[in-house]
Amino acid sequence: MSTATTRPQLVIRPAREDDASSLCEIFNEAVQDRLDTFDSGPRTADDQRSRIAAAEHDPLHPILIAELRNWIAGWAVLAPYDTRIELNDIGEVCIYVRRAFRSYGVGRQLMRAVQEAAGKLGYRKLIGRVLVQNHDGLILCRATGWRDVGRHSAHARLNGSLHDVMLVEYLIPTSSSPQP
Ligand SMILES: CC(C)(COP(=O)(O)OP(=O)(O)OC[C@H]1O[C@@H](n2cnc3c(N)ncnc32)[C@H](O)[C@@H]1OP(=O)(O)O)[C@@H](O)C(=O)NCCC(=O)NCCS
Repeated sequence: MSTATTRPQLVIRPAREDDASSLCEIFNEAVQDRLDTFDSGPRTADDQRSRIAAAEHDPLHPILIAELRNWIAGWAVLAPYDTRIELNDIGEVCIYVRRAFRSYGVGRQLMRAVQEAAGKLGYRKLIGRVLVQNHDGLILCRATGWRDVGRHSAHARLNGSLHDVMLVEYLIPTSSSPQP
């Protein structure tokens, strides 16, 4: 019987290029479930590999993965929000959890890890855009300190139709920002 000390722990680490197939599978599950806000088409492992390679050379925009006993259970990306220099301390977060691992707390732990990483990297705010019908995505945001900013009407074009999108934001606590 496993105890609290022997129970397998979720390990959160930066993505490596050889994680590409797993990340691609997990992303494509979200696309099949019509839950990704802006992508209605599947991604190839090569496309995912080049995104990981780009993140490896760009410490401000990491891809983090959550791994349980060598299984990749989910991943998150801290992406640029806006190219204007005044807004380069705002990031956009996307999180994907493998279907079989959803509702076990993986998303919450990944979100906490991204929030902590963003604080250390000097971000002041995170933005998310979640389809209004994506209840689990909105619950995750509300459970981790995000607030609803407002609703874009007929915003995301997915599979030929327009969907409303909730804009959400998370203010990084000033205590987690790096000291000057
Ligand atoms: C949204 C998503 C990332 C959530 O990840 P997850 O690992 O399932 O979430 P967690 O298990 O950590 O749950 C987070 C909170 O939501 C609640 N929750 C999760 N799934 C739920 C469900 N089906 N019903 C009710 N509550 C649910 C949990 O209870 C938890 O709240 P709590 O900690 O206060 O109890 C996951 O469902 C997913 O990958 N969906 C597809 C991709 C996606 O929609 N990404 C977000 C938009 S980019």
